[in-house]
Amino acid sequence: MQRTVTRVLRTKSSMALLRFPTAASLGLALLAWTSPATARAQSGNQPAASARVNSARLQQSLETLSTFGRSAGGTFADGVSRVAYSDADVAGRSYVLGLMRDAGLNPHIDAAGNLIGTRAGTDSSLKPIVFGSHIDSVRGGGNFDGDVGSMGAIEVIRALNENQVHTRHPLQVAIWSNEEGGTHGSGALVDTPTAATLNRDFYGISMRDGLRKIGGDPDKLAEIRRQPGSMASYLELHIEQGGNLDKAGLQIGVVDGIVGIDDYAVEVKGFANHAGTTPMPGRKDALYAASYIVQAVREVATSMPGRQVGTVGRFEVIPNAPNVIPGKVSLSMQFRDLSGEKLDIMGAQITKRVQEIAKQTDTDISSIRVQRTLPALANKGIQQDIEASIASLGFTSTHLPSGAGHDAQEIARLTPMGMIFVPSIGGISHSPRELSHWPDIANGANVLLQTILRIDANPDPH
Ligand code: HGY
Ligand code: MN
Ligand code: MN
Repeated sequence: MQRTVTRVLRTKSSMALLRFPTAASLGLALLAWTSPATARAQSGNQPAASARVNSARLQQSLETLSTFGRSAGGTFADGVSRVAYSDADVAGRSYVLGLMRDAGLNPHIDAAGNLIGTRAGTDSSLKPIVFGSHIDSVRGGGNFDGDVGSMGAIEVIRALNENQVHTRHPLQVAIWSNEEGGTHGSGALVDTPTAATLNRDFYGISMRDGLRKIGGDPDKLAEIRRQPGSMASYLELHIEQGGNLDKAGLQIGVVDGIVGIDDYAVEVKGFANHAGTTPMPGRKDALYAASYIVQAVREVATSMPGRQVGTVGRFEVIPNAPNVIPGKVSLSMQFRDLSGEKLDIMGAQITKRVQEIAKQTDTDISSIRVQRTLPALANKGIQQDIEASIASLGFTSTHLPSGAGHDAQEIARLTPMGMIFVPSIGGISHSPRELSHWPDIANGANVLLQTILRIDANPDPH
């Protein structure tokens, strides 16, 4: 009897009523719009316009951060495994908390394990300009994904302190927890994680226990929800993780939008049996069935024009022994695209294929979409401030979408968002070979600094 179950757990964003301004309405409204901030930051307010980050200090903080989660006897070039909720994550977070304290941010750990530090503004009636990123990594990751935006954010605060620049808006630095597991720290500000999510396993520890381990509180998550309009803007500096900027020899990327991500958990159940005495006909081989699923994911992702992608990244065979017909396979499927509609089309196609494969291989397959992270568009006004900052600093740049997911797409559900990319050499990421050049990182941090000042000078930012 073949049974396939395709259920959809309430996704993090399934309840969010999202209204993106259409490009046309936004475009028209902005055509004549020149942010007063931009004008002012260019002409007046000298200390602010000439403020720059200290690139040596920024490099130093990134090099120190990279030691937390480095393999024993390894070097910077060996990258890092600082997976969320691991001992290395705890150690890296306490280093970062120290940097935030030294920068006068008076940081605290919120219930979702996010490190939040605030610098007071001169007008406490204004909402904070929030910026930051994450420091957790994938297993066998690099030294730049998330780290550049996190250390860059703290360096911006240090530069403002050194230049005695006092912004009108409060500034808030956020180092989000467990971004790599699915933007859970930032997502918790928008949607309180469900019990199913809190029970999910992250390499041997549940989110519930992991939060406690890093200083969060799974029982108080509802208390950290923020409402739309509770921030003035959100900015994130990040490495591109793709190769567009490097290939084109450009210094800065102005992000137009961030892809949506559909994550599925798939369990294939066959019948474990002796590899020698069981005749081929009639086998219920879970790995044989799962191999068709891997094939189907690639076929669905390449079945239509566009930049959509599909990946099977996790694949566990049980009992994984050469002389046993695999009884069970547990695997992930992940689809990404800027369009939610395309994600739905791919979801429907892969669900149909999985049902067919179950029948064809006489196995039971359950495929559950465990999470949907919605695509997010950058705010046009913030993009203009980023462009003005790039121009004032004399950097080359281009607009581009983000094929990687980011905390910014969660926070975009609360406030206008902008992202700044710096080049990833060879477009390599989620690998020890991930590399960005120090001058590019400093350039990105200076664009972040100047964009914050432009937003701050704007009487009514975006
Ligand atoms: O998977 C991603 O896209 C991000 O790097 N977490
Ligand atoms: Mn990242
Ligand atoms: Mn990543």
